[in-house]
Parts: sequence; C-alpha cells; structure tokens
Amino acid sequence: MKNVVILSASPRKNGNSDILCHQFMKGAEEAGNNCELIMLYDKKIGFCRACYACFRTGKCVLKDDMAEILEKVQKADVLVIATPTYFLTMNGMLKTTIDRFLPKWQDLGGHDVYLIITGHDHRGGLKLVGNELTEIFEHLGNEIKGIIWGENVWQKGEVNGTKAMEETYQAGLLV
Ligand SMILES: Cc1cc2nc3c(=O)[nH]c(=O)nc-3n(C[C@H](O)[C@H](O)[C@H](O)COP(=O)(O)O)c2cc1C
Repeated sequence: MKNVVILSASPRKNGNSDILCHQFMKGAEEAGNNCELIMLYDKKIGFCRACYACFRTGKCVLKDDMAEILEKVQKADVLVIATPTYFLTMNGMLKTTIDRFLPKWQDLGGHDVYLIITGHDHRGGLKLVGNELTEIFEHLGNEIKGIIWGENVWQKGEVNGTKAMEETYQAGLLV
C-alpha cells in the first residue's frame, strides 16, 4: 500500500483538474492505496518572502497551512500535481505553493510524481507546463512517472468523456 498525496491547484471546484484528480484517486484507492486529495484553494498559503530565515531554522516565518502540507508531501510515496494552464504556465496557486517548498527543498526527493495538466489548448500548448514541472520535480530528486494531458478542455466539466479520464484512472490503478 502506498501513500498517495494529490495537490489540486485549480480555484474551480469540480473543474477539469479536480475531475481528473478524483479519477486518479478512484484508481489508486481501488488498487488499495491510501490517498489524500488536498485542494490548495481551501488552504491558507502566503507568498514566500525571500527572508531566508528557513535556511537557518528549517522553518518558514509565515504561520499558515504550508508546514502541514510540506509534512504530507515529505511523507508521500506518490505525489500527484494537478494544475490548469494559465497563460502558458502553471497557475499562481501552484507556483505560490512550490515557492514555499524552500524550507525543505533539499528533502523533497524520492517520490514518484504524476502530473495532471489541463487547458483549452492542444498538447503543444500544454507542453510548456509539462516541461517546467518536470524540470522542477526532477531537480528536487523525484521521478516523473507519468503526465496526463487534459487538453482541449475549457468549460467546467468538459474533460468528462475524453480519453484523459481513462488514462488518469489507469495511472491511479498502477501507482
Ligand atoms: C487566467 C486564465 C488563463 C488561461 N490561460 C490558458 C492558456 O494559456 N492555455 C490554455 O490552454 N488554457 C488556458 N486557460 C484555460 C484553462 O486552462 C482551462 O479552462 C482549464 O480546463 C481550467 O482547469 P479547471 O477546470 O481545473 O479550472 C486559462 C484560463 C484562465 C482562467
């Protein structure tokens, strides 16, 4: 049994990224794994202030939900990162969260990582997001096990019925 932590960055509840996160979770739970889905918009996560106090203390000066999230990320065997494409990059919520990895950045490796990327563009348009997240998570010492492309989806729920649904479920089954 693996410990699977899913970070969903879209502000749109039950939107395309969320739907794919639930598909992943469905597969992973059916395969007997322990899953937690964290909706980042439900959490209080401030911007990194670049004070570097964490380099001395190992802790962030901001008192919000990030310490708890970092602990869960560290304990995960499998990390799933889901973001909509916003102006050709990950959305701000995810970037804000990743910046707050700083206190533990040297201790966030060794996970199997799956990326879920949605957007109204086709695959080529979403590639930039896939590339940047791959670079970031590999740089932290993780292995990218799969990228799910929720391409050509714009309105809420449009991902339903696309092949990304089955792909995500299968990825969850096989974690
Ligand atoms: C501010 C903003 C910027 C966006 N920029 C892009 C973009 O550059 N490329 C793209 O393919 N889709 C873009 N989109 C569309 C979203 O990525 C798309 O609707 C996605 O399915 C949203 O995911 P969600 O349903 O999980 O919120 C943008 C949407 C918003 C709100």
